[in-house]
Amino acid sequence: MRTPQVVPDPSLPERVTIYEVGPRDGLQNESSIVPAAVKVEFVQRLLAAGLPVVEATSFVHPKWVPQLADAAEVMDALGEAGRRLPVLVPNERGLDRALELGLQHVAIFGSATETFARKNLNRGLDDQMAMFEPVVARAREAGLDVRAYVSMCFGDPWEGDVPIEQVVTVGRQLVDLGASQLSLGDTIGVGTAGHVSALLDAFNAAGLPDDVLAMHFHDTYGQALANARVALQHGVTTFDASAGGLGGCPYADSATGNLATEDLVWMLHGLGIETGVDLAALVATSTWMEGHLGRPSPSRVVNALR
Ligand code: HMG
Ligand code: MG
Repeated sequence: MRTPQVVPDPSLPERVTIYEVGPRDGLQNESSIVPAAVKVEFVQRLLAAGLPVVEATSFVHPKWVPQLADAAEVMDALGEAGRRLPVLVPNERGLDRALELGLQHVAIFGSATETFARKNLNRGLDDQMAMFEPVVARAREAGLDVRAYVSMCFGDPWEGDVPIEQVVTVGRQLVDLGASQLSLGDTIGVGTAGHVSALLDAFNAAGLPDDVLAMHFHDTYGQALANARVALQHGVTTFDASAGGLGGCPYADSATGNLATEDLVWMLHGLGIETGVDLAALVATSTWMEGHLGRPSPSRVVNALR
């Protein structure tokens, strides 16, 4: 299989961590329900392809996201390998379900906007923090690692532009609760390059350096890879992506798939940046998944290499 010619850029980091969200962010937005056994094999194949972190599922309310109602079954089937994989939990009920299975990493997900907090979590901005506070405290007490997402960092379908200071305030609150990493979500994929640098500068000025930040781009407007390049140059070394570009958010209509992991890997490997990912195995996994979903991947690299 073709690989990119490697021409390193010495101004960039030598290694990047890809945080794979296909099984969670991807599959939560599929109209068809993927059988648990296929989800398990999807996660196993992603791990075998060298992805260092695979967010496996969500312990949210099954009525809110029926696509992931089988979260416990999937984690149980993954066994020991599953225990080190992160899962989404919105509240204490979600945390209890994760603790029952002996999981070690959870991710909470806050919104930068009032409207999306209400639509996605059934709570306003202040109440979302009240919901997360005991989750993070109890998770940390039990020795778990907690990641936090901020959604709608670059724009919101109902509120339009989102002030950078508002995003930083929410992100800072989540880190102050005890989250070890903050993933900045362009939930509807409207962000542009200058906005990415300005947001990162504002987080740095608020005392959050690039090494506690991750970028989570959706590709609705085709800007995800360009935005990732800007964040990389800024100093961010953790990027969320989904195999084959699966994804979206069931509570934000204008969200499409995440930045495709294959597209990100192609760019990083071309720059001589290590990811640990076997691109051929990853493309084979996304091609296999296309068969289960009954539709082609939107990833340009999957289409070029399939
Ligand atoms: P609610 O209805 O306000 O919940 O939903 P509640 O606390 O009032 O409880 C109502 C009932 O639900 C109770 O049961 C609870 O036990 C049960 P009852 O006593 O009536 O029998 N319940 C649960 N059951 C199972 N698991 C749970 C759970 N919690 C409560 N965890 C809630 C509030 C947060 C639960 C709901 O709004 C929810 O599940 N939302 C999740 C939405 C979601 O998953 N969205 C997609 C993920 S976010 C995303 O994709 C963005 C991201 O990718 C970043 C980006 O792109 O920006 C991360
Ligand atoms: Mg997302």
